Amino acid sequence: MTKNIQITIPELPSGKLTESHFKLIEGEIPSPQKNQVLLKNIMLSIDAANRAWMQGATYRQAIEPGDVMHGYGICSVVDPNGSHFKKGDFVFAEIGWQTYGVISATEITACPDHKPLSHLLSVLGIAGKTAHHGLVQIGKIKEGETLLVSGAAGSVGNLVGQIGKLKGAKVIGIAGGQEKCDWLVNEVGFDACLDYKAGKLGKAIAQTCDKGVDVYFDNVGGNILQSALFNMNQRGRIVCCGAVSLYDGQSLAGPVGIPGLIVVKRLKMEGFIVFDFPEKDVEAENEIKTWIERGELKIYEDIITGLSEAPKALVGLLNGENRGKRMVEVT
Ligand SMILES: NC(=O)c1ccc[n+]([C@@H]2O[C@H](COP(=O)([O-])OP(=O)(O)OC[C@H]3O[C@@H](n4cnc5c(N)ncnc54)[C@H](OP(=O)(O)O)[C@@H]3O)[C@@H](O)[C@H]2O)c1
Repeated sequence: MTKNIQITIPELPSGKLTESHFKLIEGEIPSPQKNQVLLKNIMLSIDAANRAWMQGATYRQAIEPGDVMHGYGICSVVDPNGSHFKKGDFVFAEIGWQTYGVISATEITACPDHKPLSHLLSVLGIAGKTAHHGLVQIGKIKEGETLLVSGAAGSVGNLVGQIGKLKGAKVIGIAGGQEKCDWLVNEVGFDACLDYKAGKLGKAIAQTCDKGVDVYFDNVGGNILQSALFNMNQRGRIVCCGAVSLYDGQSLAGPVGIPGLIVVKRLKMEGFIVFDFPEKDVEAENEIKTWIERGELKIYEDIITGLSEAPKALVGLLNGENRGKRMVEVT
């Protein structure tokens, strides 16, 4: 009989996350209780935030030692158990890193009819909406402005840069390594990209952004945010999307210059979570779909096969292995 494969995290990391923090176990497929449905995992989203959830409660509950690793993705309904879902329906759900899971029917949402399903986790999913809402609602990017984006080759970052170009901005990325930077310029269409691992980032930003930075889309925080701050124009906007440079056991770093630079340059620095703009979701989705149909927005996905590869996939993402949206195809 088929078993349920689960990946648990017996002990939370105090330093860098490694594959050895995870444990693969086999168990029975659970039976849904009243108001629950039984789901089978199809595709898991692998996110930098998965690591942040190990640091404590944020906008959601923290991961506790011994938990099945938390994670969100697309599942198919195996047993609707009297709910309004049908067997075989595709749904968004968070049953974590396991092949089967039970969850309350109120905690799942039907997927729209779209193929391939992976797009619903990448460009038409959280990554696409995070990029669009952050840049448009918070950054308020305008034609002719200079946009700087960190984590530029990642799932959110590459879309921020592409959307910035479509909105008429000059787009400068920040990414780890010359090879990634060359890819962003030659393939993705950024105007320039700076390798933060090469050092002297502040100087490189100043040289490349010759008219200063109007909008900085910050995916990483720490020292990179610090370098960006000093290059902001008067009345610039800093979009605080995440702080991946501080998730994986690094000591909390900078930036200095707050609030001094914020005051003197009249900057706006604002954080957001993708779920903050439900009333703008359809508008963002429609604009993204139009760009895709016209061939103006490229989709970069990085799909790894097999649930057992999930630990490696997350550790690799934190080490900068991915280009575009990383996912694990479970079934
Ligand atoms: N606010 C929201 O609602 C929301 C929603 C989704 C994601 N996010 C945030 O968006 C950011 C990107 O997340 P993602 O899941 O899309 O991951 P991702 O960008 O696809 O992958 C993470 C990337 O971070 C970079 N990185 C790792 N360590 C770094 C360091 N010390 N300094 C600079 N860059 C580093 C790596 O690229 P390099 O090779 O360039 O180092 C890696 O590829 C995260 O901060 C995440 O929390 C926020």
